[in-house]
Amino acid sequence: MLKQKLIFSKSILIFLLLFFTPGLTGCTTFNGNENLYSQGMVVSADSLATEVGIKILRSGGNAIDAAVGVGFALSVTYPVAGNLGGGGFMVIKKANGEEFTLDYREKAPKLAKRDMYLNSEGNFVDSLAQEGILASGVPGSVSGMLYALANHGTMSREDVIMPSVELAKKGFYLSEATANSFNRYRSSFIKFPSTTKYFTKDSALFAPGDIFVQSDLANTLGRIIENGTDGFYRGKTAELIVAQSQKMDGIISFDDLMKYNTVVREVVTGNYRGFKILSMPPPSSGGIALIELLNILENIDLKSLGHNSTKYVHYLTEAMRRVYADRSKYLGDPDFYPVPIDSLISKNYAKKLYSQITSSASNSADILPGLVESSESMETTHYSIIDKWGNAVSVTTTINSGYGSKVVVDGAGFFLNNEMDDFSAKPGVPNQFGLLGSEANSIEPGKRMLSSMTPTIVLKDDKPVLIVGSPGGSTIITAVLQVVLNVLDFEMDVNEAVDAPRIHHQWYPEHISIEDGVLDSSGTLELINMGHKVKDIPYLGLIEAIKIDQKTGRVSGATDRRGFGLAKGELDK
Ligand code: DON
Repeated sequence: MLKQKLIFSKSILIFLLLFFTPGLTGCTTFNGNENLYSQGMVVSADSLATEVGIKILRSGGNAIDAAVGVGFALSVTYPVAGNLGGGGFMVIKKANGEEFTLDYREKAPKLAKRDMYLNSEGNFVDSLAQEGILASGVPGSVSGMLYALANHGTMSREDVIMPSVELAKKGFYLSEATANSFNRYRSSFIKFPSTTKYFTKDSALFAPGDIFVQSDLANTLGRIIENGTDGFYRGKTAELIVAQSQKMDGIISFDDLMKYNTVVREVVTGNYRGFKILSMPPPSSGGIALIELLNILENIDLKSLGHNSTKYVHYLTEAMRRVYADRSKYLGDPDFYPVPIDSLISKNYAKKLYSQITSSASNSADILPGLVESSESMETTHYSIIDKWGNAVSVTTTINSGYGSKVVVDGAGFFLNNEMDDFSAKPGVPNQFGLLGSEANSIEPGKRMLSSMTPTIVLKDDKPVLIVGSPGGSTIITAVLQVVLNVLDFEMDVNEAVDAPRIHHQWYPEHISIEDGVLDSSGTLELINMGHKVKDIPYLGLIEAIKIDQKTGRVSGATDRRGFGLAKGELDK
């Protein structure tokens, strides 16, 4: 269901003018129909979480304080994806020039085995990797968020987490979207007694306006305030996680929890038409894939093709086909597998790939073999934040599918992830996103599963001009790509850039997924005549983005029309 946008008005006239008026290249400026703020901005998929972030900024916190506050708030108010029991990535560009990423992706437990999801005939049992306790990796979110706060924040744990304790303890009114979401997943929830206890009602379905209280989750958050990471990875919370695991014949141990560590990784960087791209390195494929795509597309004058024209869709598709083929072969946890990052993001390599693209569709089989089907869902979540000093934070966090493994830790009140499905359980067999993998992403104890999450910050002259990211499994990378192109090449304002219809291609399956409004029927026919297969898709990605005017430093945010989030800024005092 599409959300009515209340915050920003749209003008078709301005849109047309933008489209057909040549603008400055290599520059982001505002176009006159954006609400501009100077004191910071928070954009997240949930309005209550955005409010928590804004209050933190208002009380003097920096973007990192706000990011941690929003992350904990999402674990309460947006349990479909917000989490304590999952993992994520944070890309940070500080006003002092520092740029780095935090990797708090889940890890395979010590007892994980390469073939753990194969039956006696050697066939992949997807239900084992996708639902129930065996699907869970060792959670990283609490470690990552507390690392960010302790090393780059300015506030105490109590300051940033207490708003979430309050939301859990006193409860909050369920929105229509959240009530419907709980009801939609009821048949999965009732498979697990602990989930039934917290996320179903005895007598009726949830209704919008119900007050949703989570006392055990409030206590878990209280232990994190009190004891920091030990409040999660040791002591009572750890005991509850391990008890849940043992009760369901799972493999997560105290040792796994105690040994979990966040890793500070260098950003993966690219240059695109004079802009610098900062994004997430492996174990995400997102940053490398985004930069590889931009490098290929830099060889083409996209603007002259016309936004979402048939030729534009063709070139994007052909670039995507090649990049996703590389993803399946070369990407995995860099602590376990030597990912050839420099080669993949080199301009020369991109030129070589570009030279293979002709005016008709290529065959994916000529690029690398395989055949898979995929399904898309929107159950990861992204948030973008900037503060008045210019610190920028881009976070994507996930428990993978909606409500992860569907297993809630009894007594602790949070869902565990089903991130193990992001490993390649068997070469040539796709995961739930239709993604193929290889040795690079095979299961090994302590290894982080490959991700597509693409939290990104775009810079001009070393200053942030765009903060962007999305959920959507395999479609994350291409959704982020198109918003980047919309802002940098087509000079759209942030709302238009986010709301514009998108396409997706991932090598296999061979079809281009196309949202309504990209092409009319004659454009689609032209694409088919070029040899492409096309498939309609209701929506691709769920972007939360902030654009910053280079000259004034004023900011404008957009939450995707495809969801129910909130972009909120702080005005001048
Ligand atoms: O890390 C990844 O790429 C996936 N676990 C993300 C899952 C996702 O985006 C689900 N829904 N939208």
